[in-house]
Amino acid sequence: RLLIIDFGSQVTQLIARRLRELNVYCEIHPYQNVTMDFVREFAPKAVIFSGGPDSVTREGSPRAPQEIFDYGVPILGICYGQQVMMHQLGGTVQSGHGTAEFGRAYVTPTEERIDMLSGWFLDQTEQVWMSHGDHVSEIAPGFKVYGTSPNAPFAITADLERNFYAVQFHPEVHHTPNGKTLYENFVRLAGFSGDWTMGAYREQMVETIREQVGDKKVICALSGGVDSSVAAALIHEAIGDQLTCVFVDHGLLRKNEAEEVVGMFRDHMNLQVIHADETELFLGELEGQSDPETKRKIIGKLFIDVFQKYADQIEGAEFLAQGTLYPDVIESVSFSGGPSVTIKSHHNVGGLPEKMGLKLVEPLRELFKDEVRALGRELGLPDSFIGRHPFPGPGLAIRCPGEITRDKLDILREADAIYIDQIRKHGLYDEIWQAFVAILPVRTVGVMGDGRTYDYACALRAVTSVDGMTADYYPFSHEFLGETATRIINEVKGINRCTYDITSKPPGTIEWE
Ligand code: XMP
Repeated sequence: RLLIIDFGSQVTQLIARRLRELNVYCEIHPYQNVTMDFVREFAPKAVIFSGGPDSVTREGSPRAPQEIFDYGVPILGICYGQQVMMHQLGGTVQSGHGTAEFGRAYVTPTEERIDMLSGWFLDQTEQVWMSHGDHVSEIAPGFKVYGTSPNAPFAITADLERNFYAVQFHPEVHHTPNGKTLYENFVRLAGFSGDWTMGAYREQMVETIREQVGDKKVICALSGGVDSSVAAALIHEAIGDQLTCVFVDHGLLRKNEAEEVVGMFRDHMNLQVIHADETELFLGELEGQSDPETKRKIIGKLFIDVFQKYADQIEGAEFLAQGTLYPDVIESVSFSGGPSVTIKSHHNVGGLPEKMGLKLVEPLRELFKDEVRALGRELGLPDSFIGRHPFPGPGLAIRCPGEITRDKLDILREADAIYIDQIRKHGLYDEIWQAFVAILPVRTVGVMGDGRTYDYACALRAVTSVDGMTADYYPFSHEFLGETATRIINEVKGINRCTYDITSKPPGTIEWE
């Protein structure tokens, strides 16, 4: 296994992700915890020093244990990690005017090509991402330069004898397009065979959860979304019936959704699931409300009240499980304001842990969405479930602009089910990030058979996206749209007109409210 010593970079988790992609097992540990005793017990086959915000020229700034350089395993230093390495091995690092560099840079090779750089410099230069205030002005004894950039003469250095490598840039980020190759070379040189899998991650997380929770009880707000589902399945595997899930049914779910989610977790996977059917409460409070923000706030508040009510009945619960992913962790650290905050405060039942005095169990905190899906498959969740489109916390309420009525919700459920059925039948479901029907607050005149109709109009929505922050409408064929509109109008009583929403985001949002 590989040890990543974290010096505090925002992107340290990306290093771990790159290594997991290469099927190498790694753990991240903050530098404060990494003593030489720790290293000997961990017994890493290789070590990576992450980047970090500090300056090695500042007294008291983070260091690696000095003896680690005599431990005899390959070490890769990145950015701050590179500087620590140089500094501790006898090189010089300078800070101050004119040495900072942020953003894209181009590295070119020196004459000698080394194994660590195989697959690099095929086109002479490599684009890399720099983000540093200090720079190395003199490399440590034993090191040689193998790559340079205009502002970083020591962009890539190595001591081949000891298998120490140091790079000034961040190979783990997207903006270093060929960065993964460096990690690939490094782990190959360190002798990893790349046979570690998500299955192993699962076993390790099960152990970690058991250690954290002991014999205490955990509650989880199960939404039916991928994240909370995978978190619940994993925690259940670790602690069985010490976990109780609460599925809050606000009456704003899609057709058969409550039955499917509760059925799968309760009957198929044997989890303890409380189906909190609070339809009357939610629809009652929403009656007569047509302002989008008011609707959202009502739902958000009731959701927390309801969850708390059911959780209070579970005696001795000390932990709250959440499906927080790594991108949520970064976002909540890096940004305040913006649309993602609202999304998460709902999704993560924000504020509840403090209010109820609960500790958090967040077994997906290190993972990215696609890794969560892989883990879900590993845990035996069906593919059809794992690949499901996202569904917002406020549910159909925000797909029913204006006032919500039971009538409209019923119509919407039927239309949505047909639309999704059409998309699946045409094999398009997995190409689309999210697709749904919105029922519009207008009625229009139509003619069916020999009679006049006066029914609701609906809008179909389908978008492609990577993260939901930006989106483009999906370019359905006219045949698909025609066929789907015909089915919806013929099969759903209450709709006599169908439109397709071709707004991208921005300027639109994905949902209608
Ligand atoms: P918008 O409409 O803002 O949506 O473009 C972006 C993504 O977020 C989902 N969404 C929500 N998810 N609680 C959630 O859990 C919410 O309040 C919420 N609002 C929007 C939306 O479905 C899309 O995937």
